[in-house]
Amino acid sequence: MKTVLITGCSSGFGLETARYFLDRDWKVIATMRTPREDALPRSEHLRVIALDVTDADSIRRALEEAGPIDVLVNNAGIGVLGALEGVPMTTARDVFETNTLGTIAMTQAVLPQFRLRREGVVINVTSSVTLMPLPLLSVYTASKAAVNAFTESLALELEQFNVRVNLVLPGRAPTTRFGENAQSRMRDSIPEAYAGLAKGVFEAWGLSTAVTHAADVAQAVWRAANDPSCPLRQAAGADAAALLQPD
Ligand SMILES: NC(=O)c1ccc[n+]([C@@H]2O[C@H](COP(=O)([O-])OP(=O)(O)OC[C@H]3O[C@@H](n4cnc5c(N)ncnc54)[C@H](OP(=O)(O)O)[C@@H]3O)[C@@H](O)[C@H]2O)c1
Repeated sequence: MKTVLITGCSSGFGLETARYFLDRDWKVIATMRTPREDALPRSEHLRVIALDVTDADSIRRALEEAGPIDVLVNNAGIGVLGALEGVPMTTARDVFETNTLGTIAMTQAVLPQFRLRREGVVINVTSSVTLMPLPLLSVYTASKAAVNAFTESLALELEQFNVRVNLVLPGRAPTTRFGENAQSRMRDSIPEAYAGLAKGVFEAWGLSTAVTHAADVAQAVWRAANDPSCPLRQAAGADAAALLQPD
């Protein structure tokens, strides 16, 4: 029985992915900043472990507690929507600390065991915004585009050890807690000079019908974990799929 460790399982894609793997007889280590035993159905194959991907001690403790794993899913992430002039540098640093450096740190921490065993998969959840530029998302997009580039370079480095590194690019998923969780970073993030632009962006989102569901992401992560022939970049969700040209 294989073991997957997933970051950011308290809600959204991470929670659904944990459920999806549990239903398919994997051992799941669902990590959360604030562990909640009731978030997922009880199972002898489930362990809930505390993990903050921005904290080196937390990463070390979580991986010690987890023991050997077969697949790492770097899903934890935070968003910010705003004009660059309205996004303080402390916020930009927080976004990179979680989305980019958190992913790099987690990957670095699991690699020794994967390399020694000559087996393992790292799956990084980025975003379809890296495929089509949108206004008001410059910092968030940069944090995820960096992970795309990181993944593509690392995949070449690890091929020799039979370790795979894959990307899942979800589209816009209004049903997760992502938007709500980003609110605290968005005070004054749209200065008056950008109000007209923002109005147009929100109106366009209101009209778009193709969205991403958490199940789309869980399925793409499942494929990356189980199918060595799957493309390095997979879109998740109808809106993301429309943007990604097949390899
Ligand atoms: N929703 C979308 O439209 C969308 C689209 C494309 C890509 N994505 C990406 O998909 C991933 C999941 O997003 P989601 O939509 O499922 O949003 P979500 O419901 O807000 O889930 C994000 C998860 O990340 C966790 N997290 C945040 N900071 C963390 C940290 N420092 N250490 C560990 N966990 C942390 C959150 O935990 P807490 O509960 O502790 O905050 C939460 O469990 C993110 O990487 C996001 O950027 C989302």
